[in-house]
Amino acid sequence: MKATWIQEACQEPVPEDFHGGVKWQSPSNIAIVKYWGKKGRQLPQNPSVSLTLTACRTETSVFYEKSDRFGLRFSFEGKENGEFQTKIRDFLMEQIDYLPFVKQLDLHIKSRNTFPHSSGIASSASSMSALVMCLLDIERHLKGTPGIDLRKASFLSRLASGSACRSLFPVAALWGATDSMEGSSDEYAIPLETQIAPVFKSYRDSILIVSDAKKEVSSRAGHALMEHHPYATTRYATANNNVAGLLQVLKSGDLERFILITESEALQLHALMMCSEPSFILMKPNTLRIINAIREFRRETDIPVCFTLDAGPNVHVLYPDADAELVERFIMDELEPYCSHNQWIADRVGTGPANY
Ligand code: PMV
Repeated sequence: MKATWIQEACQEPVPEDFHGGVKWQSPSNIAIVKYWGKKGRQLPQNPSVSLTLTACRTETSVFYEKSDRFGLRFSFEGKENGEFQTKIRDFLMEQIDYLPFVKQLDLHIKSRNTFPHSSGIASSASSMSALVMCLLDIERHLKGTPGIDLRKASFLSRLASGSACRSLFPVAALWGATDSMEGSSDEYAIPLETQIAPVFKSYRDSILIVSDAKKEVSSRAGHALMEHHPYATTRYATANNNVAGLLQVLKSGDLERFILITESEALQLHALMMCSEPSFILMKPNTLRIINAIREFRRETDIPVCFTLDAGPNVHVLYPDADAELVERFIMDELEPYCSHNQWIADRVGTGPANY
């Protein structure tokens, strides 16, 4: 018998013979101080701080049925997807000690992203955190316990995909042990919402799609480049300092210092890749044109707009909500022509995972 709450919770039809279903959406996040380099079991070499986004997110439904053995079917955007299915199966089997109830479930997972598939935006943070929220919600239903432990959700998301552990919290999150924050840990991220100046709670992030090609270097390969990197020690020390500085800035609302740290972190990430072995140049000519245009616009207008980059050519343009009208006009007039098919995504700081 299908419980009625499933029909209410899930707009999608419940597959035949499935007895329960949960659905969660979870956002992507943008790191201001970057995690680049890992150790042990998906532990970071340095702490990182991110802003939680809202428009770029993954919506995941998991239908489940009790079974005498584990079963999994996965479809992405309406189509069965073997590659993702294997990734999820591997993750579940590796972490089975933390999710023992899964052994007796037949799972049917359906997932979709709200951002274009070919936007070059990494989706592992949003997809893995959405999946973990679904799994812990199922555990909650099976055990009849209240609420989901976000620390456990962050811990498990980290094991699935490092930066995913930061997507669980509203506004901003810190992942990685640092003397600058009590309670910080390499094992999971912690929320920063209560320590953030109002200006950052509505911050804008317009994501300019310079290239919609698949990532040139996988995150896994990128982190591995740090293992014998000549600047690794200096990098980890700098990142620690930048986390300490950024935590102060996020509290005080000092936008000038925010810009210094944010842009320096983005360029360091790319500098590290440029001088690693093998070397990668992930910026494209239009990435540099956009960066130069942003700096010129900032000089001319005094509007505190700045950029950050992921491990790819796309540019995240960060600015206060109060300046949105002028900055969006600037993006449309001057930056859009540098974007692939004129594509950009108007995102902003958000509230973290939710039922949908
Ligand atoms: O979580 P991963 O393994 O995809 O690595 C993320 C790396 C960066 O996006 C470049 C930086 C970060 O902290 O998110």
